[in-house]
Amino acid sequence: RSVRIRVPGTSANCGPGFDAIGLACTVYNDLELTLLKEPELSITIEGEGAQNIPCDNRNIVWRSVQYLLRKAKLDKEYPGAIIHMENNVPLSRGLGSSATAIVAGLKAANVLIGNRFNRRELLQFATDIEGHPDNVAPAIFGGFTISTVTRGNVECFTFMPKFRMKLVVAVPDFPLSTRKARAVLPEKVPMKDAVNNIGRAAMLVAALCKGNDKFLRNVFEDALHQPYRAELIPGMYDVFQAARKAGALGANLSGAGPCLIAYTLEKRECEEAVGEAMKKAFQQHGVASKILIMD
Ligand code: HSE
Repeated sequence: RSVRIRVPGTSANCGPGFDAIGLACTVYNDLELTLLKEPELSITIEGEGAQNIPCDNRNIVWRSVQYLLRKAKLDKEYPGAIIHMENNVPLSRGLGSSATAIVAGLKAANVLIGNRFNRRELLQFATDIEGHPDNVAPAIFGGFTISTVTRGNVECFTFMPKFRMKLVVAVPDFPLSTRKARAVLPEKVPMKDAVNNIGRAAMLVAALCKGNDKFLRNVFEDALHQPYRAELIPGMYDVFQAARKAGALGANLSGAGPCLIAYTLEKRECEEAVGEAMKKAFQQHGVASKILIMD
C-alpha cells in the first residue's frame, strides 16, 4: 500500500516572531511513500534538490518515516521503503524545505499505519526532529501559526488573516544553511530590542486576526535576528525598502534566509511591481534572484 502526500513550503519568523510565528505558502513538495516489510530502500527525487539531497539512510524524509514508525513500535515490521519526492520548495533558501520533508515523512507514514497519531502529536515529533517549531507548525496546520515550546512541549495556535494577501518572495541564487545563519546570533539581546519585538509580534497577530491593515505598517521589522544576519545577505535592507516603496506592507527575512519575503494586500494589485523592485535592488548588490508570487 502506498500513499501520496502534499506539504507546503513555509516562511518562519514573519519579522518579529523569531522561532514562534510562521506561515504556509502555495509552493509544495509531493511525496509518494510505500512501506516495505523487507530491508530495502529506494529513494528518487525530482525537481528542487534532486542533485543535492542524499538518497540513502541520511535522507530526512526516510529518517522522519523511521522516527514515526519507532514511536508506533512498527519499525521492525517495516524496515524498508520506496520514497519518491517531487520537490518545488527551493532548498536551503529559507522556505522550510527541511520542515516540508520532515512533515511529509511523518504524515505519509502516519496515514499508512492507520492515522495512529493526531496532528498535535505530529507537531511534537516534527519539532523534536527540526529543533524549532515555526516551520513545521504551518507545514502541518496551514495558514499562519504561532507556536511556543515550554519545557519541550510544543503548543500551536493557527489562524487565517482577515484579508487576502499576496506573498512576494525573492529567492537569491545562493544557499544559506540554517546552522550558519543561527551561528551569527548573539546569546543575549538588549532589553529594548526584546521589548520592540514583543510589541510588534503581538500587533502583527492582532492586526492579521482583526483585518486591520493600517496597524501592519511597521510590524514586520525585527531587532532580534535580522540585524545579525544582514551580513550574510548582501543588500537585505535595501530590498526591504524597495518592496515597501513599490507598495508592500512590509518585508523581512524568510526564516533564516537568504529568501526575502514581502507582504502585499491582494486588493492593491502591486505584487508584480514589488517583485520587480526586489529583484532590481538585489541586482544592485550583485545578487541574482528569482521571484515567486504566492498566496
Ligand atoms: N526560526 C528559524 C530561524 C527558522 O530563524 O533560525 C529557520 O528555518
